[in-house]
Amino acid sequence: RIAGPSGLVIFGVTGDLSRKKLMPAIYDLANRGLLPPGFALTGFARRDWENQDFAQVVYEAVKEHARTPFREEVWQQLSEGFRFVQGEFDDGKAFDQLRQTIDELDEQQGTQGNHAFYLSVPPKAFPEVVRQLKEHGLADPKADSWRRVVIEKPFGHDLKSARELNKVVDDVFPPESVFRIDHYLGKETVQNIMALRFANTMFEPLWNRSYVDHVQITMAEDIGIGGRAGYYDGIGAARDVIQNHLLQLLALTAMEEPVSFDADALVAEKLKVLGSVKLPDDLSRGTVRAQYTRGWQGGELAKGYLEEDGIPPDSRTDTYAAIKLEIANRRWAGVPFYLRAGKRLGRRVTEIAVVFQRAPHLPFDATATEELGQNALVIRVQPDEGMTVRFGSKVPGTAMEVRDVNMDFAYGESFTESSPEAYERLLLDVLLGDAPLFPRHEEVELSWKILDPIEEHWAQHGKPEPYVSGTWGPDAADEMLARDGRSWRRP
Ligand code: BG6
Repeated sequence: RIAGPSGLVIFGVTGDLSRKKLMPAIYDLANRGLLPPGFALTGFARRDWENQDFAQVVYEAVKEHARTPFREEVWQQLSEGFRFVQGEFDDGKAFDQLRQTIDELDEQQGTQGNHAFYLSVPPKAFPEVVRQLKEHGLADPKADSWRRVVIEKPFGHDLKSARELNKVVDDVFPPESVFRIDHYLGKETVQNIMALRFANTMFEPLWNRSYVDHVQITMAEDIGIGGRAGYYDGIGAARDVIQNHLLQLLALTAMEEPVSFDADALVAEKLKVLGSVKLPDDLSRGTVRAQYTRGWQGGELAKGYLEEDGIPPDSRTDTYAAIKLEIANRRWAGVPFYLRAGKRLGRRVTEIAVVFQRAPHLPFDATATEELGQNALVIRVQPDEGMTVRFGSKVPGTAMEVRDVNMDFAYGESFTESSPEAYERLLLDVLLGDAPLFPRHEEVELSWKILDPIEEHWAQHGKPEPYVSGTWGPDAADEMLARDGRSWRRP
């Protein structure tokens, strides 16, 4: 799978995402031989830069963040296709300039009219950029070529704004040319959920309400909000990552087998899951939101959320959210799915734990199974990529005593192939026009339909609970599970 003649234009090229993820991913793709020889990368931003200044910024980003070794010849060839266009998003002349640049690239680099526009811009700039692309003829492909637009979350902050945003894009680009990035779908371990479930026989027979007691999906981060106050405050953990990443993980974990891995077939199954999600009747008992306070983390004293730069002292933004959901269908009726996500937690870990029911009968002395928990299959999304199966085993010795043990699969031990970074995979798919790993607007809408009532409830009821940085979240989240006779895993 090597991309054909094409170019990528990045709006917001001076931002963090561009520097840490997009530029290194482009270089890594080139280094792996997956980009066409004349590939073009155009940056569009306000800075007063020449092409070579832009190239220098890409160079530094690559040196610092690329995953593959630096090779001078790859860099030399790649950087021949770098261009920079200076302008504000509302400056029509700059878009004329961009158009001219792209036409020249078709001549000089052989990009053949195939260009993708990556909008790594703040949500409020979004409609303007899309409008300008249309007005300056950048969105219309010439014969036998393509134009695509790549959009980054947030796709709105609720259902209404998501619909408005979608209308803006929909007026300019046909649906098959719109690529919405949820970078979790670009992760190797997330795609592996489908391989695990549908390439094997031993898991799927148990994957239902007859055997599964509950499912826990955890996305824990040890970092705080860093310099992102402007984006994060007022958005919070649930909108930032549950609405997209965690609900996508839920959909992949719970969906039926798709007819194929085509975008249409896959989306059809994910939509059924998202459309069947049922919220708890009492949102005060079935959801928790919280905010980190000052605490020790990794040997350093971390600031509380309200002490972070740019955060108003009375902010009610959640930096932790836990939600209990059910999926109202034949496979999952009555099985709770507990989702939690938070910043400044004990450590960085994302995992999906499918926890099985206890054996219906234990023919052992009561004391023999004191250290036997519930069987579990844990998909370790990151950082320690792999899978763990937990089950009971006889403790060596003369008595019949049973204790939990773990059986592990680790990517690093089983494969010599290295995993591409999520953005590498996704950028390559954009250039190839390969859509399965990009959520559709319908999924975005259904996800907001799940989250909107929760956010409304939170807005009307009190403040987030406090939790100390470096811990595993607020007591209220433990209590939520304890009421169901369960507890969170300590990954
Ligand atoms: C982003 C969120 O989508 O995902 C960030 O906006 C979060 O708040 C990030 O830190 C985490 O991504 P990853 O790949 O490091 O788990």
